[in-house]
Amino acid sequence: MRGRSLGLIAASLLVVTPILAFAGDKGPATIDLKAKYGITGSKSAVIFPHAMHQSKLTCDKCHTSAAGGKLKFDIVKKEGIMNDFHSKMCWPCHTAMKVPKGKACATCHK
Ligand code: HEC
Ligand code: HEC
Ligand code: HEC
Repeated sequence: MRGRSLGLIAASLLVVTPILAFAGDKGPATIDLKAKYGITGSKSAVIFPHAMHQSKLTCDKCHTSAAGGKLKFDIVKKEGIMNDFHSKMCWPCHTAMKVPKGKACATCHK
């Protein structure tokens, strides 16, 4: 029994280690999306809690690969309430995952 679980632990380490090594650069812990995307509207800037999302979700929920890289959402429209962050990225996931106050303005615009 003991030998078997040690074997399982060893096997899972063999699987997990290369994935961690592959993930490499995790990027910044927080990201000012307003500045990064050059958005000029009057809403207060969204400081995206990147590290917090990384602790709950795999990278490929938002990026094109398991190692990060390009966002898989095509952010073209950046103005107004129907902007692509709201309609393609932040809101659909918050709704699907039932994030408390996930669509309340003050959750993201401080
Ligand atoms: C889940 C996060 C999130 C929530 C909730 C949210 N927004 Fe946003 N919003 C963003 C992001 C990200 C941007 C783009 C980055 C930025 O402008 O800081 C943005 C941009 C905007 C913009 C365009 C840019 C500008 O400054 O004019 C408007 C308008 C806006 N939001 C209004 C709202 C309103 C009104 C609410 C509440 C009904 C709301 N947002 C709720 C994430 C959110
Ligand atoms: C909930 C969505 C989400 C998750 C999950 C997520 N990221 Fe990100 N990540 C973003 C956003 C949004 C940005 C900033 C926008 C951009 O770079 O275009 C970003 C930016 C980055 C950057 C900086 C890119 C640059 O050009 O400076 C790296 C590196 C990165 N992420 C790696 C990762 C890795 C590795 C994981 C998994 C451990 C991960 N991300 C998980 C949303 C996410
Ligand atoms: C793929 C799913 C997913 C996407 C995409 C996503 N989020 Fe979230 N977000 C979550 C989850 C899950 C939580 C709740 C985490 C928890 O507290 O358990 C959350 C929570 C948050 C919180 C609350 C943090 C706190 O400390 O209470 C903020 C702010 C937030 N997200 C901003 C954003 C913004 C801005 C975007 C778009 C740029 C975004 N999220 C995109 C899944 C996502």
